[in-house]
Amino acid sequence: MLDVKLKLDRATKPSGVDLLAAVIGIFMRDGKILVTGAAGFIGFHVAQRLLGAGREVVGLDVVNDYYDPRLKEARLDMLKAVPGFSFIKLNSSIARR
Ligand SMILES: NC(=O)c1ccc[n+]([C@@H]2O[C@H](COP(=O)([O-])OP(=O)(O)OC[C@H]3O[C@@H](n4cnc5c(N)ncnc54)[C@H](O)[C@@H]3O)[C@@H](O)[C@H]2O)c1
Repeated sequence: MLDVKLKLDRATKPSGVDLLAAVIGIFMRDGKILVTGAAGFIGFHVAQRLLGAGREVVGLDVVNDYYDPRLKEARLDMLKAVPGFSFIKLNSSIARR
């Protein structure tokens, strides 16, 4: 198992974390935070930061192959090792083809 150490920067205040969550994800009714693109570069780091702040996070990602999906799976494995993280594999697009 990977040893994941999640800590907030000392300079980061909880309000900053909440603002980040408001921009990238949405607060869910039960207090969990939905982070879209959680397997991607930005979503992964946002999820890590939120978990480090003690928040519960639901990650959502389709895990597309825009670049090597193994990197995304590795990120998800790291997040899944942290209590408070759950994952939904889903295409959130409503675009019609
Ligand atoms: N990384 C940067 O420096 C940077 C800078 C400016 C803007 N952005 C923008 O921010 C966004 C995220 O950037 P990133 O670097 O994290 O990209 P990324 O490709 O690493 O992550 C995006 C994630 O979203 C997922 N995704 C894409 N479409 C989806 C869908 N329909 N449903 C569910 N999941 C879906 C992908 O599988 C991927 O894991 C992008 O729109 C990017 O253009 C990134």
